[in-house]
Amino acid sequence: MELFLDTASLTEIRTMWDIGILDGVTTNPTLVSKEGRKFEDIIRDICALGVPSVSAEVVATDVNGMLAEGRRLRQIHSSVYVKCPMTPAGLTATKILAKEGTRVNMTLVFSANQALLAAKVGAAYVSPFIGRLDDQGQDGIELVRDIVTIYRNYRVPTKVLVASVRHPVHVLEAAKIGADIATMPYAVMEKLSAHPLTDIGLARFLKDWEKVPK
Ligand code: G3P
Repeated sequence: MELFLDTASLTEIRTMWDIGILDGVTTNPTLVSKEGRKFEDIIRDICALGVPSVSAEVVATDVNGMLAEGRRLRQIHSSVYVKCPMTPAGLTATKILAKEGTRVNMTLVFSANQALLAAKVGAAYVSPFIGRLDDQGQDGIELVRDIVTIYRNYRVPTKVLVASVRHPVHVLEAAKIGADIATMPYAVMEKLSAHPLTDIGLARFLKDWEKVPK
């Protein structure tokens, strides 16, 4: 499974990129608003690190506006994926952008039928928001299971990008189902490598190593 960071922070991205575990980055208007920098500059800088997949979201709500923004964003770098919302206008824009060769990440997906439509218009990624579903008492992981099953049934090439990830169990469950990608906050990615027994084991090895004659 590919692991993406859900952030617009260059510091966070650089850290995980340097460790060597990062496959891509997703951003959204909320994450971008925290950085205090121009949107396109942020996207350009992330791409310049060499990250092969960088999702940048349109904020227009009409088809023509989405097309204009999407076409401008994709010019920034070949790694850019354009994020369009799951609305009727977003579906139309996705269909046109996909036909032009732009890879679209269909975002704000909360049902399997929405994912079916995202595939129909040629989205490269579909982004079910599982944490937000959990927050309101629905099982986000069950949605991922449904989408993966449906896409397998019809050999759909759209990749399932699990978004709104809150903790490592979300990542584990998504991987067990066979989702293609999980995008997560920095704090969750940090936790993927952490285990207290690893720390205890390393401390013990280093202490014992001191007894070895040098
Ligand atoms: O970027 C889309 C999604 O991952 C947002 O997550 O935590 O705001 O629900 P969250």
